[in-house]
This record gives sequence, structure tokens and C-alpha cells, in this order.
Amino acid sequence: MSQSLSARYVGKVFDGRGRVVALRDVNMEVPGGGFAAIIGPSGCGKSTLLRIFADLLQPTTGTVAIGGGAPQNARRTKSIGFVFQSATLLPWRTIRRNVELPLDVAGERGRSREGRADALLSLVGLDGFGDSLPHQLSGGMQQRAAIARALILKPEILLLDEPFGALDEITRQRMNLELLRIWGETKTTAVLVTHSIAEAVLMADRVFVMTPRPGTIAKAVDVPLERPRTLQMMRTPAFFDVVNELRDALFGTETEPALEPLPLEAVS
Ligand SMILES: Nc1ncnc2c1ncn2[C@@H]1O[C@H](COP(=O)(O)OP(=O)(O)O)[C@@H](O)[C@H]1O
Ligand SMILES: [Mg+2]
Repeated sequence: MSQSLSARYVGKVFDGRGRVVALRDVNMEVPGGGFAAIIGPSGCGKSTLLRIFADLLQPTTGTVAIGGGAPQNARRTKSIGFVFQSATLLPWRTIRRNVELPLDVAGERGRSREGRADALLSLVGLDGFGDSLPHQLSGGMQQRAAIARALILKPEILLLDEPFGALDEITRQRMNLELLRIWGETKTTAVLVTHSIAEAVLMADRVFVMTPRPGTIAKAVDVPLERPRTLQMMRTPAFFDVVNELRDALFGTETEPALEPLPLEAVS
């Protein structure tokens, strides 16, 4: 019974030196336990939208709801986990202590926290790395630790802002499958921001396409692929159909037709 998430006519204007209309009339809905992806050009407001969902920013107009309630409540009850593009681990803390950081911030002590970090490290495939320091781990492993940290307060909603953007293609595909497994086990509602059309289709039930700034939802496309998802599915006609539909929504139909949709060699 994870929480749903919705945006109604959300707009965001940054008023500083110069006025930036980042978002305009964003409407979207993600059912509880669903997996949504958001794609769109750089600077279209994807991070801004995620931050509004997480109550890290206030919308200028419109409303967002988490489980039908205000995001402030969700934030207060620690219902939201956030994973950023770079792992943002504290370099002087061990991996275990990094994963436990939200418990420290929330003031949770004693018995209930014992073993939780290690269980999560195991869930994200980092068994035995609890005593390591961040710099001793690869980029992909650091990002796994960041995911474990985002999960430690048992969030109902997991917001992922290009979490694997800095990783190479092969590592990225492996991490994506891992993320799907973790999502399946934790039953959170997930929203993934990504640059990659293929990644969005591999992961999500529904993909939201954003326009260039001011960002708004140009199209929502459902992905009719079964779960569990596999990399083999990326070679199927059903996969290409969704990729092409999204490509048209992003770039328009007047570009050259019949491009090979994906560098398949890179993912097999
Ligand atoms: N705190 C801020 N102050 C002023 N402008 C901002 C701020 N945060 C983001 N922006 C602007 O809002 C637009 C959307 O940014 P962002 O949400 O980061 O886009 P994306 O994540 O899609 O690349 C960009 O033009 C960016 O420069
Ligand atoms: Mg961004």
C-alpha cells in the first residue's frame, strides 16, 4: 500500500537575477506502487519537479499530493527517499555510517536501527562493504550505497534524479536491473528521471515526456511490457514501438526516419 503521487497544474518560477519560468501546468499521476519515468531535454525542469514532490521546493502555482496529502506531511513522516545524480556520500564516514545518516538526522537510536544498514547493504549488493570508506568503492557501488541510504527510513516513495547518469553504459544497465529488483522487494512508488529513452522504457510502467522550458508534460506513454523486465525485452518490437513513440514526442516526427533505435551491442 505505497502512496500515490500527483501534480496538478504545477508551475514554478524562479525569481532571482532574471526570471526563469521552469515549469508550467505540469499534470501527472503515479499510482501507489507504480514505476514512472520522466524524460525531457536538459534544463526542462525535471529536477525542479522532483524537488517539488520531495518538498525541497515550493511550487509557484498548482499543487502536488503524496498519498493524497501535502508533501510537507510526507516529508515529516519521512515517506520520501531521494537519490541524486552523484552519490553525495560523506567521505569521512564509512559506508555503513553513510547509510545510517538519515537515522541520525531523524534522531532514531537504539535497538531498532541495529542491523538495518547491513540488511540494506545486502539488498543493494554491498555485503561486506559496511566498513569501507566511499573512496574505496567504484562509482556504481557508491550509488548503490546512496540507494541504501535513501531506503533506510522505509520510504513509500523513491525519487531518483538521473541516479546512474555518471556511470558507464554497462554498469548502468546492471544497476537498472538491480533497481527494479529492489523496487520489487520494497514495493515503493518510484519516479525516475533519466536522459535515456531506452532506460525509461526498460524501467517504467508509464513514461512522461517533458517539453523544453518551461517544462510541461507533452505526453504520457504506457509501457506494455511484462514484469520482471529483462534486457532481452529491449530487442522486441513492443520495446521499439514505445521507444519510437517517445522519440517522436521528444524530437517530433520530421527528423530522419528509421534510425536504428538503440545501440544494442552495448546492453547485451
Ligand atoms: N534555484 C534556482 N534558481 C534559478 N533558476 C533555477 C534554479 N533551479 C533551477 N533553475 C532553472 O530552472 C530550469 C530547470 O532546471 P532543472 O529543473 O535543473 O532542469 P533539468 O533537471 O530538467 O535539467 C533551468 O533553466 C535552471 O537553470
Ligand atoms: Mg536535473
